[in-house]
Amino acid sequence: MDEVVGVVLAAGKGTRMKSKRPKVLHPLLGRPMAAYALRAVEQATGRRPVVVVGHQAEVVQAGLGPERADYVLQEPPLGTGHAVQQTRTLLQGRARVILVTNGDMPLLRAETLRALLDAHRQHAGPITLLTVVADDPRGFGRIVRDAQGHVQAIVEEAHATPEQKAIRELNVGVYAFDADWLWPALDALPLSPKGEYYLTDTVALAVAQGRTVHAVTLADPTEAIGVNTRVHLAEAAAVLQQRIVRRWMLAGVTFVDPRRVYVEDTVTLGQDTVVWPDTYLLGETHIGPESEIGPNTYIRDSRVGARCRVFASVLEQAVVEDQVDIGPYGHLRKGAHLAQGVHMGNFGEVKNSYLGPGVKMGHFSYIGDATIEAGVNIGAGTITCNYDGERKHPTYIGAGAFIGSDTMLVAPVRIGRGARTGAGAVVTRDVPDYTLAVGVPARAIRRLPRPESSAEEAS
Ligand code: UD1
Ligand code: MG
Repeated sequence: MDEVVGVVLAAGKGTRMKSKRPKVLHPLLGRPMAAYALRAVEQATGRRPVVVVGHQAEVVQAGLGPERADYVLQEPPLGTGHAVQQTRTLLQGRARVILVTNGDMPLLRAETLRALLDAHRQHAGPITLLTVVADDPRGFGRIVRDAQGHVQAIVEEAHATPEQKAIRELNVGVYAFDADWLWPALDALPLSPKGEYYLTDTVALAVAQGRTVHAVTLADPTEAIGVNTRVHLAEAAAVLQQRIVRRWMLAGVTFVDPRRVYVEDTVTLGQDTVVWPDTYLLGETHIGPESEIGPNTYIRDSRVGARCRVFASVLEQAVVEDQVDIGPYGHLRKGAHLAQGVHMGNFGEVKNSYLGPGVKMGHFSYIGDATIEAGVNIGAGTITCNYDGERKHPTYIGAGAFIGSDTMLVAPVRIGRGARTGAGAVVTRDVPDYTLAVGVPARAIRRLPRPESSAEEAS
């Protein structure tokens, strides 16, 4: 039997998001909102959680990943108590403690859940719950205590008296329950005036049995930000963004202005890298050490190596090796691979192409579906004419070739090793190794001397 199993409630409709998308799948810094709750529970309990789904159950399950959790269907949704009741068949006899949390509370930390579980272990009571003290009640249930300070009940805002409404200690909606106590208690829940079974009513039930309910109060109230509207979503994102940036700063990354970046939770950054303002790092983006990124840069799902410089550029699904410099105004699209030491200056676009070590592409070029070997110089304005209106065609440029300014490479075409093209050449046929081709359409006009050693060639 497991010590603790976590249950994440996510069956609610999320009406106030005004969205076709289920609330718990709304993206937050690169992950679906509920993924944060799942992760915190997983870290605190050491095993995968159970998620209660209802509204758009299949969509939620697919969005969170069928392997990330066990899913239990609640249909119809008759309240939070009813939701937990649905996990009984799966969990009875499988765990001593049931940790309950919400899919729409992405800021709750694993450490907080651990502290709640520690407190629960230290006390004899059947319930330990998390509370927060706040001036803005945000519709949360109020914690009612007696004169000695013992928790007596949770009163939902809709049913609270004016005096109860003034209570500043609120129910976060996160609890540790003794499983043996919980299952029969759920059967005994009264129907609320709203026609729901409230999990919060377990508190009064325990008190009526003469049992003690313990509370742990959040030190950081931002952890209790629950998302019900898109305004809350933005609030949660702001807090999460600060945490992410802070984590990387403490790991050795410089943010020139930590407030003016967007860095998703999925991104990693190497030591001594510097991120300038107005930089957006998204998805599976991984930046190596000692690189300089931004200002004004957007990188999605890309790998950038060490000691690179990316300035005012856009990178999408690209791979950039070490010591590459890009920009300003470079655009790497899907499948761009820049090898070590590539220099890509202003107004360059590269798609589905390999640029070998040391390739120079300084100004105004489009390179698509091309393989370019080491040391090639791509003159200003060079274009791979890769599309004939129906299909895409490849371009190959051998090592050490020199492509003159404004060359049009009409693909499919192959430029030989050490070859040259004249300015304005329109190359429609292959150019042999060490050959100069010029004109429109380009003709080979001269053989070029071959270097004596390959070392010379690479320079
Ligand atoms: C609940 C608590 C309230 C607490 C607040 C904190 C109850 C009765 N009230 O209120 O004391 O302050 O959370 O956020 O529990 N859900 C289901 N099935 C249902 C109903 C809800 O899975 O039938 C899920 C929702 O998707 C959500 C969570 O349970 O993740 C909380 O439900 P919600 O309707 O938001 O409860 P609140 O009214 O906010
Ligand atoms: Mg809620």
